[in-house]
Amino acid sequence: MNKISYGLYVLTAVNCGFANGCIINTLAQVTVSPNRVSVTVSKSNFTNYMIRQSGVFNVSVIDETADFSLFERFGFASGRWENKFSRRTCEVAENGVPYVNDGTCAYISCRVVSTVDLGTHTMFIADVTDAVSLSDSAPMTYAFYHANVKPKPAVRTEKADDSVKTEKWVCNICGYVYEGSLPEDFVCPICKHGAGDFSRIE
Ligand SMILES: Cc1cc2nc3c(=O)[nH]c(=O)nc-3n(C[C@H](O)[C@H](O)[C@H](O)COP(=O)(O)O)c2cc1C
Repeated sequence: MNKISYGLYVLTAVNCGFANGCIINTLAQVTVSPNRVSVTVSKSNFTNYMIRQSGVFNVSVIDETADFSLFERFGFASGRWENKFSRRTCEVAENGVPYVNDGTCAYISCRVVSTVDLGTHTMFIADVTDAVSLSDSAPMTYAFYHANVKPKPAVRTEKADDSVKTEKWVCNICGYVYEGSLPEDFVCPICKHGAGDFSRIE
């Protein structure tokens, strides 16, 4: 599955005057005439709920100038608990939905025409209502993100008794590796997820 190539995007929506967004890699153009795209969004994402309510969204195309802070902000935190746009520059598109204008090379505005229930996720199929180029920077691929943007797992070593096999735990969200007995209240230093999101490496 790692051989499949993707782009990376900030999917944004507005509901009841509140703007939010999340990182996705699941944008695809599904037809040319009419010009339609699909995005596949986890039902646990607040952005999923907001799109189901409003029926419109924007997709900002992340480019190779973006740094990890964009992913931390939109990909590892939920808009249920914080305003992701509070410390981030953005502009509002003609459809009234903000788009990210820093580290992005284009944005696409969309109106939902149908939804597909995929169990854990919803696939939104949408008409493209506007598409605006912002710069000539190259769009970022998932492979570029893994090679150049995502922090490499830093191994933290606890002083261990050599006679005891040292435990290793990996963060299911960002790949950070912790060595030693994982404290119950441990918080991943990279993506801020808790001990419940770690799996022990055998
Ligand atoms: C590189 C990357 C790619 C992601 N791709 C998707 C995706 O395609 N679909 C999805 O539902 N979530 C995806 N996520 C996870 C969401 O961005 C993440 O759960 C986000 O915190 C949800 O925010 P929200 O609750 O404010 O909507 C991705 C995260 C990262 C870091």
